[in-house]
Amino acid sequence: MAEEVLFTPIKVGRMELRHRIVFPPITRYRADDDGTPNEELAPEYYSERCLVPGTLLIAEATDVSSRGGGWPNAPGIFTEKQIAGWKKVTDAVHAKGGFIFDQVWNLGRVNVGTKLPDVYSASDVQMPERPKPRSLTIAEIHEMVDEYGVAAANAIKAGFDGIEIHGAHGYLVDQFLQDVTNLRTDEYGGSIENRAKFGLEVVAKCVEAIGADRVAIRLSPFSKVQAMRMKDPWPTFSYFISQLQLRFPGLAYVHMVEPRTAGNNDQIPEEGDSSEPYRELWKGIWIAAGGFTQDSAREYTASHPNTLVGIGRYYTSNPDLVAKFKERMELVPYDRSTFYTNKSPVGYIGWKYSEELKGKYY
Ligand SMILES: Cc1cc2nc3c(=O)[nH]c(=O)nc-3n(C[C@H](O)[C@H](O)[C@H](O)COP(=O)(O)O)c2cc1C
Repeated sequence: MAEEVLFTPIKVGRMELRHRIVFPPITRYRADDDGTPNEELAPEYYSERCLVPGTLLIAEATDVSSRGGGWPNAPGIFTEKQIAGWKKVTDAVHAKGGFIFDQVWNLGRVNVGTKLPDVYSASDVQMPERPKPRSLTIAEIHEMVDEYGVAAANAIKAGFDGIEIHGAHGYLVDQFLQDVTNLRTDEYGGSIENRAKFGLEVVAKCVEAIGADRVAIRLSPFSKVQAMRMKDPWPTFSYFISQLQLRFPGLAYVHMVEPRTAGNNDQIPEEGDSSEPYRELWKGIWIAAGGFTQDSAREYTASHPNTLVGIGRYYTSNPDLVAKFKERMELVPYDRSTFYTNKSPVGYIGWKYSEELKGKYY
């Protein structure tokens, strides 16, 4: 029975998915220098991950604007060239019967080079030197909210099925939400309501641009990556999710990172950490990601209605992961050393499909 639920169809926004395994957003730094997805690599990389039709992929974090980005070879979605580059990716995914959302981010203070103790440490990417972070002006905040809306519209132009706002892992939306980074004393800081204001405005702007059923958000209340994590995340994040439920009940999904992972790695949860009470506040589709195994993915989706699970690291080395899960086959270990090798095809494409799946899936 548990097995069946993971491979049961589910409607998410406008999409009819055929099972509940999701490829979560995974930054790989393989885009061209101008932020265009590389046409030799990206269409193949994404489309081969929907070997099983009806799979949902969430594209890697994508810059909403030039000033919101800054990491070398991360993609963007703010120029016509980038949009055309993504169109090749989304066409390739759709040709396989897959679906693809784009995760959109503004790096915020991470972009400006703060010395953070635990910034994606496996990265061999040379981060550019940048000035010290500062508070945004109110006018800049309004512009940045608008940039998410433009990015959402551009994503639809690029053929994406929707967007996931990156509200996790210490990027701009998360920086506003959490008191460890939000030191403002104006209408965007201080109280929970004020700290939630930016994220809720971003959601509203994207909903206005492309419709609630094509908008989603990812949150990570427990993650310590990028020097985040409030002492007690519950008051802030329960408020935020309750507001999503109240104002935007038609969002495609809410995506939460489980307490046992942070960014690209495992972490030891704090005592009592659990995504459960947060999930209970959201009545729509819920995606949980972080540290799931073949068994726990089956158990989770079987015991929690309207849920899907993201499988990150193992999906990098197993493009045929969904089929392997279905057949309960052993997975190829992932290779952390090639997670972020800029522009290199090595460790990005070229992972072999299992011979045993031949004829049945490809
Ligand atoms: C190489 C790498 C890059 C990642 N990039 C992103 C990203 O762009 N956006 C994001 O929200 N999470 C990112 N993550 C986190 C994953 O989406 C996922 O939450 C994490 O890998 C935990 O799931 P897992 O235990 O199944 O790997 C990244 C993880 C890895 C390993």
